[in-house]
Amino acid sequence: MINAKRLLQRLDELSQIGRNHETGGINRFSFTKEEQQAIDLVTEYMKEAGMQVNVDGIGNIVGSYGDAQETVMLGSHIDTVPDGGKFDGALGVLAAIEVVQTLHEQQVPLHKKVEVTAFKDEEGTRFGFGLIGSRAMAGLLKPEQLQKTDAANIAIEEAARQFGLSPFPLEKLKREDIKAYLELHIEQGKVLEKEDLPVGVVTGIAAPLWLEVTVNGISEHAGATPMHIRHDALTAASEMILAVEQCFQKKDDSVGTVGKLQVEPNGVNVIPGKVTFTIDIRDIDEHTIREIEQEVEQQVNDIAARRHVTAAIVELQRAKPAKADESLQQQFAASIEKQGIRPYALVSGAGHDAMNIAAAAPVAMLFVRSKDGISHNPLEYSSDEDIVIAANVLYDTVLEISGKKD
Ligand code: GLV
Ligand code: MN
Ligand code: MN
Repeated sequence: MINAKRLLQRLDELSQIGRNHETGGINRFSFTKEEQQAIDLVTEYMKEAGMQVNVDGIGNIVGSYGDAQETVMLGSHIDTVPDGGKFDGALGVLAAIEVVQTLHEQQVPLHKKVEVTAFKDEEGTRFGFGLIGSRAMAGLLKPEQLQKTDAANIAIEEAARQFGLSPFPLEKLKREDIKAYLELHIEQGKVLEKEDLPVGVVTGIAAPLWLEVTVNGISEHAGATPMHIRHDALTAASEMILAVEQCFQKKDDSVGTVGKLQVEPNGVNVIPGKVTFTIDIRDIDEHTIREIEQEVEQQVNDIAARRHVTAAIVELQRAKPAKADESLQQQFAASIEKQGIRPYALVSGAGHDAMNIAAAAPVAMLFVRSKDGISHNPLEYSSDEDIVIAANVLYDTVLEISGKKD
């Protein structure tokens, strides 16, 4: 059994870093002072758990326990969305550390090395490009992607160098020795709550495609320009955003979101000359994502032509949907059953580092019930009881796949 008090205490302590006291939300973005404080704290926990801690060239924090050849990796992320909650990512890292600390304290003999990774920038908040650490570890990160910039025009590579990291050569970041990757994460949906279950086993992970649309019109005088000769970038963008929503009406499982919008010059008495907005498209099937992408493109181009503005679409990030490994799913299910709980399988609508690691190793995810399904919000909540059950399930599964049987 894991030490529940220690895990919950650490979760509280980590949640103080980057906390906005007005909203209650947490802001920890990659390569910032707040993220570094979180890294320092997590490093301390890893050491207390008996792990050796290493940082790779992109800033993944890896705690290692044992010296066997084969590795079972556990992990998640400690960065957040703007005004994020306290559980998304952080819980997975801290539960994993707790599992290792328990193995260490109980002196459990292992035939596999157990590692815990806090992946660099899962959320993509700062650079509009996320899952950076897990892309690197799976060998999926491309050199040109490190030139993506933040709002202040600082590239990922430069930001990494400012923190003393040297990402190149990227091949050095790739891991080939991972035999299994397990990630505990909050569900961020309402399925487990509806099923009245504390935990569930993930069968597959839907992947995000992020696009950025720039609409260019003409900034003119709001009083002196007649309505019928305007090139208003914002009214065009508004129609595009509604058309994007419409693209998802006939789809059962796909979801689409416009979450970020910028209007220029943003003056009360100026017709908007330039609008930039993002589109987040998700589905568990890559083919469906491509179909939707084409439909969205068509709509944007048609509306731009009709409204006498121009529109350019660029891809910010694309990830591949992933399936969880059958035998690891079964192992999670068996560990859940041992706790007297009905194993339940569900799909992840949210993206996770496991999605990328799936390109390098068999992966599985354990979900913890989220209250009202709320996430990416300061109100995000999972109960202490559910968290402890999940951490014990993870502990049992790690023991089953890494522990020596005699
Ligand atoms: C991460 O939380 C994502 O799914 O965007
Ligand atoms: Mn998230
Ligand atoms: Mn997450």
